[in-house]
Amino acid sequence: MIKGDFNIESYKKILELIDKKTVSGEFLAKELNISRVAVWKKIKKLEKLGYKIERSKQGYKLISKPDKLLPFEIIPYLKTKELGRNYIYFEKINSTNIYVKDNKELEDGSVVVAEFQDSGKGRKGRRWVSPAYKGLYFSILLKRNIPITDILKLSLFFSFVIKNVLQKHISNEIFIKWPNDLYINNKKFGGILIETEIEGNEINRIIVGIGININATYEDLEPISDIATSLYIEEGKSFNRKELFINILEEIERNISNLSSSEIVKSVEDCLLWKDYKIKVLDEDLEGILIGLSETGALLLKTEGGIKTVYSGDLSIRKS
Ligand code: BTN
Repeated sequence: MIKGDFNIESYKKILELIDKKTVSGEFLAKELNISRVAVWKKIKKLEKLGYKIERSKQGYKLISKPDKLLPFEIIPYLKTKELGRNYIYFEKINSTNIYVKDNKELEDGSVVVAEFQDSGKGRKGRRWVSPAYKGLYFSILLKRNIPITDILKLSLFFSFVIKNVLQKHISNEIFIKWPNDLYINNKKFGGILIETEIEGNEINRIIVGIGININATYEDLEPISDIATSLYIEEGKSFNRKELFINILEEIERNISNLSSSEIVKSVEDCLLWKDYKIKVLDEDLEGILIGLSETGALLLKTEGGIKTVYSGDLSIRKS
């Protein structure tokens, strides 16, 4: 685990100084105001993390960076005020949501990210397949009181913001499958698991777990490749995870005052998957035409018995 307070600045500085040119240990030591042994230790640490560094009599030169969401690859470039200021990074974890749940001392706006989860959690007790270094798997902690009735709007808010960020980078159209799945070409590539801790009638600790398949290949997603996809599979090219991650965090913070606004609900209606199609709500044993969303973000279904409001459930398209 690497926490946000890990001396990010010194690593960032070393990486900048040795980028594309050889720099002596002595020079680095002077610039960082540390000993040459301390420089050497930091270089070793960087190599262990996957940085390729050429060592010669003249000094050190950065050859390549690993494709990792390390704190010193993210935090110095992240232009948020609060979100992600407490940044906790794992190469491997069971689930970032579980970590946030178990660590009550975490502050509002903490971001916990992992390159790989061996027990990634999906909605309804399902598993979230999280191939290593191929996606974005992170949890955001929000400590605020919001009414329980706003929880659906919250789901829609995160799906909508992420959709908008990603849409700028890809050509296929992204749809939101109610309440919070991200779809391209009728296949899921992103999901959100919101877990809340409730006191009285108010939610006071919200864990927003976000999983996005970015560079996963068809093989990485086996055995769910018939229903799941990734940006790589759909667009036929790899994406820079760091850039997307930074964009997403910045956009979430920029819009956070709309967290439970009805405006978001209206906007989501325009990119709702299967709008005007006949669908089934699996758990409710209900079917009808998906006509839109209520003000609170619930699903409106035109059934034979009239318009029904659906507050939870999994949707599937009715094949008739
Ligand atoms: C779903 O669509 O079922 C929700 C998937 C949420 C997956 C993310 S990955 C990061 C965070 N940690 C978890 O264990 N789950 C969420």
